[in-house]
Amino acid sequence: MATVNMRVDLGGIPMRNPVNTASGTYGNGIQFEDFYDVGATLGAITCKGVAHEPWNGNPAPRLAEVSSGIMNSVGLQNPGVEGFVAQYGSYLQSVRDRGCAVICQIAGHSLDEYRQATELFEELAPFASGFEINISCPNIAKGGAAMGGTPGAAAEVMRAVRPLTARPIVVKMAPHDVAEIGKALEAEGANALSLINTIPGMAIDVHTHRSRLARPTAGVSGPAIHAIAVRMVWECAQAVSIPICGIGGIASGEDAAEMILAGATAISVGTANLYDPLAAKNVVRELTEWVEQQGVQDVHELIGAFEC
Ligand SMILES: Cc1cc2nc3c(=O)[nH]c(=O)nc-3n(C[C@H](O)[C@H](O)[C@H](O)COP(=O)(O)O)c2cc1C
Repeated sequence: MATVNMRVDLGGIPMRNPVNTASGTYGNGIQFEDFYDVGATLGAITCKGVAHEPWNGNPAPRLAEVSSGIMNSVGLQNPGVEGFVAQYGSYLQSVRDRGCAVICQIAGHSLDEYRQATELFEELAPFASGFEINISCPNIAKGGAAMGGTPGAAAEVMRAVRPLTARPIVVKMAPHDVAEIGKALEAEGANALSLINTIPGMAIDVHTHRSRLARPTAGVSGPAIHAIAVRMVWECAQAVSIPICGIGGIASGEDAAEMILAGATAISVGTANLYDPLAAKNVVRELTEWVEQQGVQDVHELIGAFEC
């Protein structure tokens, strides 16, 4: 039992501790139940991005190992909201019943697709504590540019979905212009921000001269991006007053603590889940131990406590 308060609130999503999981790196939770009691342990889980209808994702190979990380071009393969709820709804309700928040992630290729997915989730997913809008999805009308790649475009996505749900909306941000885009999202009613998504990179097979994945570029994640993510969380935290969930290369309590000091209220464990299924559980324990060692009563005393 922790001797300090670890409870936090991510923009209206109450969490028993600041530890969440990053979308797409944790299945939808059930895959980790053989290793520990997910619902009784974590503060929240964030599910894989889901669209209004099923998406096939990109061709394989979609994953490659690189120095201190991985690259992926999964391309948001998902079963659509109805398929997702049919497959995971009762499990996710049990996660919620055990005191862990459930955040459902929404994907779309156009404003209309975001609207349709949000409406379906609102109707079919009573188990969702809140929604995370992934604004990094490619915009089919604009040649694949990210849906929320500029402050104006991000604001448009927010304006499309905000009227459709009273539940908290977290926005998952791409790794650029986080202060300006964060401000635009806050102005349009986002309850929280989560950052960062993967950073575009390339991995070339020098024998074949071809990409090691089916596509020329893919998203880099894991310890390789941690220092960049901490910097972006800090920059964003200076610019907005809504809470931030820090994501990027978190594999230990110390990595999570850096995010909290930089200004994150919560953190998500991502790629580390793929090579150590106990990573998120261990981060809960290590982060709690760190807070206890700081001589404070409450994790809030450490949020943004970084000093230059
Ligand atoms: C295999 C894989 C699938 C992912 N799928 C999604 C997704 O569906 N939606 C999303 O917003 N981010 C997705 N991400 C990005 C992660 O949520 C996270 O933002 C990123 O990996 C950085 O955190 P990490 O370094 O701890 O992995 C995915 C990452 C990986 C490695």
